Amino acid sequence: MKKRDTLGAPLRIGGYTAPCNVLLAPLAGYTDFAFRKLCYSFGAGLCFTEMVSAKGLLYGNEGTRRLLYRDPSEPQTAVQLFGGDPAVMRAACESEDLAGFAHVDINMGCPVPKVYKNGEGSALLSDFPRAEKIVAACKKSGKTVSVKFRIGLDGGHIVAAEFARLCAGAGADMLTVHGRTRDKMYAGEPDYAAIAAAKNAVDIPVVANGGIFTREDALRMLGETGADGVMVARAAMYCPHVFAEIAGRGGEWDVRAAIEGQIADMLPFYGERFTLVQMRKMAAFYLRGTRGGAGLRARLLACPSLGGLHALLEEIFGGGAEGLTSGPVK
Ligand SMILES: Cc1cc2nc3c(=O)[nH]c(=O)nc-3n(C[C@H](O)[C@H](O)[C@H](O)COP(=O)(O)O)c2cc1C
Repeated sequence: MKKRDTLGAPLRIGGYTAPCNVLLAPLAGYTDFAFRKLCYSFGAGLCFTEMVSAKGLLYGNEGTRRLLYRDPSEPQTAVQLFGGDPAVMRAACESEDLAGFAHVDINMGCPVPKVYKNGEGSALLSDFPRAEKIVAACKKSGKTVSVKFRIGLDGGHIVAAEFARLCAGAGADMLTVHGRTRDKMYAGEPDYAAIAAAKNAVDIPVVANGGIFTREDALRMLGETGADGVMVARAAMYCPHVFAEIAGRGGEWDVRAAIEGQIADMLPFYGERFTLVQMRKMAAFYLRGTRGGAGLRARLLACPSLGGLHALLEEIFGGGAEGLTSGPVK
């Protein structure tokens, strides 16, 4: 296998060098600043915001703006935009809201019907001319531009290599290829050959995504595709410490400290209600696969307040259920 020794190596993206080529994927509802901060602390080389609507930004949607908060400690974070109108995408890139982001990632992989029917996300895989105009328009903003896309809409229409070439030709600085078609959503093995074809079609860095839960998965992905880095999504939702494991850096995964740290970071910015809802959801993921986890998760999700959440954490980790640690769960 080639590329084994490059796992954990720096990754050059436009004018920026990420310290490690294991990246955190954009995850709607999850990759807020507190979660990203945790992932960076475990060695993620670059994190992405969740997908943000370019139109929503320009219409001054407050909810959309809240997704853009960055913690001063974040080294470099890319903002992910979705949209189908090149002019709107460029205006969003150049807007004041994105002034703090030097890197814009364009979503061309979202399979969700609401997005797809608007000609956004994965719909762009079947509209090459518009996809090309969007990349070129975003590039005119002067920011580093990457594109995240799926290998095609379905098995009969694998476009990974052609689409990679198109994006690179339009000025993209990096590509992330999710090795599944739209109709597969998140299921099944990634198509290594299609990712490899995309990698071989261009001279810019290509990051491979899909089905990476362990260091072995990451090594296999790099070996099979020749990609320059890997992007991890669901594995990080289960255990943000996965970045240290994949990059071979070791260290401890302390579930309680992670949850408490995220709450402390989020509370002043998001307030109690949002912090509670968000952290019940995240803590439930972290406790997947742990002994007694199913019952604990049900109780977590029913916690009525942050006080209740802290009390439950004390019950779980304060001696009640000794040795609760969690690793990545497939
Ligand atoms: C809950 C959830 C939210 C997601 N949100 C986004 C998103 O905002 N933007 C995006 O490009 N992909 C999004 N994805 C797709 C992931 O970034 C990733 O491509 C996909 O999960 C495959 O990687 P994995 O097999 O490591 O999970 C999302 C996936 C999940 C499960």
